[in-house]
Amino acid sequence: MSTVVETDVLIVGSGPAGASAALALSTYGVPNIVVTRYASLADTPRAHITNQRTMEVLRDLGVEQEVIAQATPQHLMGNTTFCTSLAGEELGRVRSWGNDPLVQAEHELASPTRMCDMPQHLMEPVLVNAAVARGTRLRFQNEYLSHTQDADGVTALVRDRLRGDTYEIRAKYLIGADGGRSKVAEDAGLPMGGQMGVAGSINIVFEADLARYTAHRPSTLYWVLAPGATVGGIGAGLVRCVRPWNEWLIVWGYDVNAGAPDLTTEYAESIVRALVGDDDVPVTVKSSSAWTVNEMYAETYANGRVFCAGDAVHRHPPSNGLGSNTSIQDAYNLAWKLKLVLDGTAHPRLLDSYTAERAPVGRQIVTRANRSIRETAPVFEALDGLSPQTPEQLWANIAARKDATEAAEKQRAALREAIAFKAYEFNAHGVDLNQRYDAGSSAAIVPDGTPDPGFARDPELYHQPSSRPGARLPHAWITSGTRTLSTLDTVGRGRFTLLTGIGGEAWVRAAEEQEVEIATVVIGPGQQCEDPYGDWARLREIPDAGALLVRPDGFVAFRHASAGADAGALLAHALRRILGHA
Ligand code: FDA
Repeated sequence: MSTVVETDVLIVGSGPAGASAALALSTYGVPNIVVTRYASLADTPRAHITNQRTMEVLRDLGVEQEVIAQATPQHLMGNTTFCTSLAGEELGRVRSWGNDPLVQAEHELASPTRMCDMPQHLMEPVLVNAAVARGTRLRFQNEYLSHTQDADGVTALVRDRLRGDTYEIRAKYLIGADGGRSKVAEDAGLPMGGQMGVAGSINIVFEADLARYTAHRPSTLYWVLAPGATVGGIGAGLVRCVRPWNEWLIVWGYDVNAGAPDLTTEYAESIVRALVGDDDVPVTVKSSSAWTVNEMYAETYANGRVFCAGDAVHRHPPSNGLGSNTSIQDAYNLAWKLKLVLDGTAHPRLLDSYTAERAPVGRQIVTRANRSIRETAPVFEALDGLSPQTPEQLWANIAARKDATEAAEKQRAALREAIAFKAYEFNAHGVDLNQRYDAGSSAAIVPDGTPDPGFARDPELYHQPSSRPGARLPHAWITSGTRTLSTLDTVGRGRFTLLTGIGGEAWVRAAEEQEVEIATVVIGPGQQCEDPYGDWARLREIPDAGALLVRPDGFVAFRHASAGADAGALLAHALRRILGHA
């Protein structure tokens, strides 16, 4: 063991969390190395639903258009269909992922971006290629083994699986983005709550031209209620579109106490046949793998100079499509903080805000995803399909809903209601966008003395913008000359931004006087940006001459309702707190 490689940030893992941490750090000019265990990036589709917040992050990091070019667009995602097989009876649909006309309007109003379906094996190369192009040093087949840390840095022991030897990487910080069996989180002693192995699941990737069963009701997800579909798994059998309409992934459960079945090609084909329901369709099984549904989250995401992100600290089923979204957003939250600490702008205390802000989000999404599985049960209940029974009984129960009886009418109503309730899984716009960081626990947010506005509508279903410190900057379309841009386009790029309006000159001067780089944006008639629709005036919640200081990750850190002769002092005071110097 002779070589010691040095860097500022060592990242373990090239999944969504590690790849986006590398991309953000390289974009900000922070030297970093990624070590990843295998010889390639993800080779199966895995996570895919990409929500608006993640698209905003990718927009700031300059890869949004590349993702759009490769992803399945939103309009092909959203008829989540419940059926007895793809060729069988349809039980109902729920408009999903922003495709309900009312929810679609909410999506349009909430963000400059659109949801899309970007399978992980396509997403990872976009993130990693951009990261490497911007300076990340990537080492495939390099496995993290252990680490020690001292006052100045972290030393990780790594095995080069190609050469077969081990060597050390010395870094100022270590990011453990090594997934659901994170060795980094374990070595760092991060306490995990919850349970692994709640249920057993199998993924089967296959090719088949299923256009005749899907193109007329385009969707990412087709849920199959068939015999055995309530055993383990994620609520029912699932046929997920990977590429319309000939690449697919099936999720099918197994009894976790009995152990995973032998994943032979014959077994995988039998599941595919049962869920497709048409034996004449040619099918090619590409791969199959077993995994477990987990319900775990860490209370603390860091120990000293070691930070964990993604599945390393929150482990949950794919319901609501939160896996890679949350992982990418963790990394984005952490990267700017590391940059400012490493270049001396911020005190290392700033890094404490990472756990304070992201651990509550992790806990929330783990709980939400697992609850979504349980909320599929009423669909079965409506069909009297939960108790053990023969396939014939189940088919008879399902058929009974077509009878002209009072009982069948009740059954139809219960089925409609149970399917519509699945909006909490497939149209949970609030879960995607309502993350608000609490100034009570995060010092990187400065309270402005206003009461928490809470949420006027269900916070899981509906997004509610706010400019209160701790909320993500509201999106509004504004103009700069002939260019139309989002308020979110004025922030990011690794630096703070101050937004003000007419009468806010003192804030602009104050921003220019600070030692930390702060971009300034003045919005109003005849100013650098204009608000022709009046949307920004409606959303900003402060008068023209007030100010919002927005962090590099697009969250409002400080808000002041008026112009002030003391703007310089107010801003300096706020920045001392945010940057950990107070
Ligand atoms: P992720 O697991 O993606 O990445 C971990 C990285 O760390 C990998 O690059 C790995 O090689 C590397 N690594 C691990 N140990 C290492 C070590 N000791 N040294 C070096 N490198 C190491 N989600 C969803 O929403 N819908 C879905 O359908 C699915 N399906 C699915 C299938 C399968 C088989 C898996 C494993 C996962 C899913 N998921 C999913 C979950 C989703 O993929 C997951 O939430 C994200 O990938 C999490 O991203 P991370 O970057 O945190 O971990």
